[in-house]
Amino acid sequence: MLRSHTCGELTIANIGEKVTLCGWVQKSRDLGGLTFIDLRDRYGITQLAFNMDVHSTLCLEARKIGREFVIKAIGSVKERESKNLKMATGEIEIVVDHLEVLNAAITPPFTIEEQTDGGDDLRMKYRYLDLRRANVRANLELRHRIAIESRNYLDKLKFLEVETPVLIKSTPEGARDFVVPSRMNQGQFYALPQSPQTFKQLLMVAGFDRYYQIVKCFRDEDLRADRQPEFTQIDCEMSFIEREDILNTFEGLVRHLFESVKGIKIDSLPRMSYADAMKYYGCDKPDTRFDMQFVELNERVKNKGFKVFDDAELVIGINAKGCSEYTRKQLDELTNFVKRPQIGATGLVYARVNSDGTVKSSVDKFYDAEQLNAWAEKMNAQPGDLILILAGGINKTRKAMSELRLEMGTRLGLRDKNTFSCLWVIDFPLLEYSEEVNRYFAMHHPFTSPLPEDLTLIKENPGAVRANAYDMVINGVEVGGGSIRIHDRNLQSQMFSLLGFTTEEAQDQFGFLMNAFEFGAPPHGGIAFGFDRLCSLFGGSESIRDFIAFPKNNSGRDVMIDAPSVIHNDQLKELGIDVKE
Ligand code: AMO
Repeated sequence: MLRSHTCGELTIANIGEKVTLCGWVQKSRDLGGLTFIDLRDRYGITQLAFNMDVHSTLCLEARKIGREFVIKAIGSVKERESKNLKMATGEIEIVVDHLEVLNAAITPPFTIEEQTDGGDDLRMKYRYLDLRRANVRANLELRHRIAIESRNYLDKLKFLEVETPVLIKSTPEGARDFVVPSRMNQGQFYALPQSPQTFKQLLMVAGFDRYYQIVKCFRDEDLRADRQPEFTQIDCEMSFIEREDILNTFEGLVRHLFESVKGIKIDSLPRMSYADAMKYYGCDKPDTRFDMQFVELNERVKNKGFKVFDDAELVIGINAKGCSEYTRKQLDELTNFVKRPQIGATGLVYARVNSDGTVKSSVDKFYDAEQLNAWAEKMNAQPGDLILILAGGINKTRKAMSELRLEMGTRLGLRDKNTFSCLWVIDFPLLEYSEEVNRYFAMHHPFTSPLPEDLTLIKENPGAVRANAYDMVINGVEVGGGSIRIHDRNLQSQMFSLLGFTTEEAQDQFGFLMNAFEFGAPPHGGIAFGFDRLCSLFGGSESIRDFIAFPKNNSGRDVMIDAPSVIHNDQLKELGIDVKE
């Protein structure tokens, strides 16, 4: 080893010891007679001291050393005169008597500190420098800890980690595949897995009973803060289980992670049906850190001459507690918020419940005091509250209100990143109808089993069939999703035919799975957690990029290695891909 200690471990207990440290120069300060260097490595920062009176050549040498130089210093541990109790090593310094530059460094393009002056693009281009920053490194340490604790938990329950292939045939999960041309099979392509879904089911047919894998998945979809083209899942599958077993096993995993990684005890997870999530929160991943549920007002507001409400399929309100004093400007901001094209509401109606209990609304001319009081009563609004109302088509209004609810939650400080509210959303619809292509799509994926009690509906009313599927939602983020699978060949064929596959197409694409079902497939089911999302949630950030060592930007590019990139004609020819000369 080039060093005797790291830069994060020396304390007053080591005073008088001769030590050798290696690391990067965080900064140096020249105070005339004394020069100090802050030496940094993964473990922390230790102050090196050089005294002009004691060792002038060494001190002059130290002054020449720039930021991010890699150095080795030998010296003795001494108690500091002015201590910094905020640092683990803040009570000591190293009085250096030997200094060696292991490698020089040019000036970094941004400061390597928690608050950096580097913009996003620059930090991504020099990600290896960005990763030197303590907060970015801490994010990856957290990621490591969550991976270890997940493995510990699953290993104890006899889950086997099995690697599945990366060069596969496409599995339909709803996104586009990334494809890889095959040189040895010209004109043919592998697909990168959107998830190991079919393989984990085949492992169940193989009798593996309990499988997991912390695994890269690839989806060519539009990117957002919580989506990357390559991301990681904690992918799991179990045999001889029912939904209840999966929910218990995996809420156990999440509770174990909260407790072991964050020291937080989580109660058992409440369950909400998809129908209720849509009715009360307008989305299938409700942020339940705060209440503010939707109240349907149709029967209290219709047929009083206000056309917007009269024509609406649905009128819903939320109660913003304590906001009755909102100014005109604040209300205009909210109106502009809901009218933005991404949200698409035509307008916002409000009603203030004044401190004297009277209710004043923006549509007073259509409603008398008694009617407005009836709104307040239905909304459970007290003096001081503000009722916000949207109206229109059911889906659009729910979606817009869901955004407004989150906005109000943020404005009222109800979405603290250190508070965690977890739940299961269950009983999703099995199918979604697409008007565009006139057919059903699987809401989760085609291997998801219908709820047994809805099986009879599958022929005459497939749209009403609920899936034996579940999502885990934490603070409004879908952190995981899964289902009980179909394990019967006939039901699986029926499902493919509902999804518009001919028998030949189904056989061609999924023959391998349906054939496997004929060799004794056990009842099975599973779940996959978005590992990056779990990490960002634990780390209190909205962006999963902060928890990925080398992420892609919003256009799917790795700006550091400059990928994707053009490849040589020779390489294309070899792959049998037409070359444009
Ligand atoms: P699903 O498609 O719901 O299910 O994915 C599981 C979880 O993976 C995370 N996730 C993502 N994270 C980052 N970037 C993305 N582009 C991205 N896409 C998904 C989400 C999501 O909940 N095979 C099924 C699982 C199963 O049925 O067992 C599947 O992949 O947190």
